[in-house]
This record gives sequence, C-alpha cells and structure tokens, in this order.
Amino acid sequence: MPAIILVGAQWGDEGKGKITDLLAAQVDVVARYGGGDNAGHTVVVRGERFALHLIPSGVLHPGTECILGSGMVINPARLVQELDGLTARGVDVSRVRVSSAAHLIMPWHLALDEAQEAARGGAQIGTTRRGIGPAYADKAARTGIRVGDMLDDKHLAATILARAEEKRPVLRAYGLPEPGVDAIILQYQEYAARLRPHIADTVRLVHQRLAEGKTILCEGAQGTLLDLDHGTYPYVTSSSPIAGGALTGLGIGPGHVSRVIGVAKAYSTRVGMGPFPTELTDDIGEQLVVIGGEYGTTTGRRRRAGWLDMVALRYAVQVNGITELALTKLDVLGAFPQIKVCVAYRCKGERLTDFPTDARTLALCEPEYETLPGWQSEISHVRSRQALPPAARAYVAYLEHRLGVPVRIISVGPERDETIVEARP
Ligand code: IMP
Repeated sequence: MPAIILVGAQWGDEGKGKITDLLAAQVDVVARYGGGDNAGHTVVVRGERFALHLIPSGVLHPGTECILGSGMVINPARLVQELDGLTARGVDVSRVRVSSAAHLIMPWHLALDEAQEAARGGAQIGTTRRGIGPAYADKAARTGIRVGDMLDDKHLAATILARAEEKRPVLRAYGLPEPGVDAIILQYQEYAARLRPHIADTVRLVHQRLAEGKTILCEGAQGTLLDLDHGTYPYVTSSSPIAGGALTGLGIGPGHVSRVIGVAKAYSTRVGMGPFPTELTDDIGEQLVVIGGEYGTTTGRRRRAGWLDMVALRYAVQVNGITELALTKLDVLGAFPQIKVCVAYRCKGERLTDFPTDARTLALCEPEYETLPGWQSEISHVRSRQALPPAARAYVAYLEHRLGVPVRIISVGPERDETIVEARP
C-alpha cells in the first residue's frame, strides 16, 4: 500500500509545511524522515499561525498519526517544548511517535556547531546552529546517543557520561567549556520521562500501517540542493532530504512508493551561504523577499531570493524521481510585469543545461533567462486552474512542458484553502 514522498525541490523553504498540512487530510500517517529542528514549517489554520520544527504539520489534523523517523536528529528540549506548546493550544499530541533509532542532539553538538562555524571564518556554511552537523557526524562515527537510549535511566546516564568523556578533548580544542555532565544527565532524564510514551519502533509501526492499507505521507525537510550527497556540498545540511532519504530514514523499500511530490516555489530562495546562480540583489530581489515574506521560520534570517531556476529544478526532478509538482507562492509573482526563468547557465564560455553540483563550478555560473509575461494581479481568491489569469496559466504550463512533470497543486496564498488542488489543464 502506498507511501507518498514529499520533497523540497530547491534549497528548502519551498512551503512543504502547507502542502503536508493539505495532504494530511487525505492520509493516515505523516512521517518525517530526516533533519531536525533546523527545519521550520509555518502553517496557517483559520488565521492561527503554527510554527513547527520537529513534529510533522500533520499533527494539526485530528486523527492523523505523526512519526519522527529514524533518519532524524532530535533535540529533546525542542521536542518537549513543541509537544507542550501544541497541547496548550488544544492539539492532541498522543498521536506523535518518535523512532527509538533517531539520534539525540546533545548540548555539546550545539556548542560545536557554533564553534565550528566561527572557526570557518569567511567560509561559513551559515548553519542554523541547531547542532545538526555535529549530531549527524557522531551518528556516522558511531558515537551518537539514540532516542532509544532514553528508555532506561541508568543506561542513559552511563551513555551520556561515556560520550561526554569522549567529547572533552574536542571541546577543549575549540576553547569550549567542559560539559556539566551531572546537570546534562538530570536534564536528559527529565526529557526521557516526558518523551517515553512517544518512543516507538517506528519501522514496525510504518509496516503495520502499510499492511493495514493505510497511506503514509513521508514528509521531507530542507531541500534537494541541501542534500549531503546531491546538493551543493559543502553548503548543504548533514542529512538526505531527497526521496531516497525517505526510504532509509523510515525503513521502507521503493516498491511502497506510489508518488513523489516535489514542492517548488514559483521563484527561488536560499538561506545560508553557498552558490545561488539566479540570486537577485536588486529591487526585484527585495520585492520577492518583502512580498513573499522570505524570513526563516527557524532563525528569522532574511532569505536570499531570485528567479526560478529550471536547471536546478530539472536536476531535482531527476534525483528524486518526482512524479508531480506542487507549485507554491505563485501569488507572489503577481507583482511583476515580466517574469524571468533560468533555462541554462553560462560557465567559462560554455552553455550548461545540466546542474553542476560542484559548488565552485556553480559559483561561476551565470543564468541564461527566458522572459515570460506577468499577470500583475491578485490571484489568492482563485480556486481553479482555469480561473487563473492567462499569463499565470501559461507560466505553469511552461514549467510542466520544460520539466516533463505535471503541476498538481498550486498554492496562491498562505491559508490552507488558498490552494488549487489537482490542477490539470
Ligand atoms: P544545518 O542544517 O543547520 O547544518 O545548516 C546547513 C545549511 O542548510 C545552511 O545553509 C542552512 O541555512 C540550511 N538549512 C537547514 N535547514 C534548512 C531549512 O529547513 N530550510 C532552509 N535551509 C535550511
């Protein structure tokens, strides 16, 4: 029975939270497969704003089961805060399950993320400073602490003690203070007591649900171009946001996957450092930021913005096996008389139509644009593709033609109902 994978097709911040929220009404389970609280999903329900970082936005639909998969790294302080915050607003969080195989973010991961960024000087990645990279590094080095280690207080204390000892010289090398191990143990035992009812073998749970004929939405965080293997390394995150990450991050095989939905913004944004060929530093870039409200949910940082990059998007279609697109923030483009779309790069005298993932090559790429007419009108009230202004319809059709995949969802505003669903020509 089907698993649907939802991936960010750009540099993250494509509006996946809203699309997940929308699809959550039609599925039984929403499962996040990677990343941690570096992600931020903003969902607006009847004017009420929910900013979620770890818990899938499916939690806002009564009855939808929510899973935090084994591919994730969990800051328990944040998770407790999010569970309590939702509870205080009347949301039932008993449906939230956290994989025992997910890794824990420890206080030293946060300190190291900060210190390593500072040490990079001018070559900073611009991380969210949530400890993500150091936590995944420990996972790969097999020196991590897992959520399942929280099931037994004595074992948890011994594990934290051992890991803290290993970290001492590393922290010292960065001039960081020694970890206060006793306090950390007490604090994590407190988190453990709070989180224990939510800890589960989520692989078994996922397969139970699939066997019951239920539908699982695998919710990606970050985006394709931030993928550790397939993004613009080293300006990437430390997990696998692409569709393949859903398989390893949840423990399912490709045969279960019926659809891969790529979420793409109608223009491009990037937060943090790294090459961004279509970045606009002029008035148009500023307008995209202001009209699109392009400030990070997690860090509040201003996003960099520019025209849609079809070279990058075509690459995203390939590496994810995207079967359909959800196009977000189309309304934002209503401000412009003309809309540009990058169709190729110029690099060292060559014309490139394939996306170079080598960051140094990408940094040398100049965009080659095609210009399409704008529609210069407000479209947030539109609920069918036919009712869109002709130029907006043409923009969507142009993307479908160029990318070879249909656009099935179009978001025309932040509210749940400001959406055109199953839009077909
Ligand atoms: P990290 O994931 O905090 O290590 O950050 C690595 C890079 O990924 C930085 O450029 C971040 O700005 C970016 N990043 C991480 N999470 C997100 C996200 O949810 N949206 C957009 N960018 C992100």
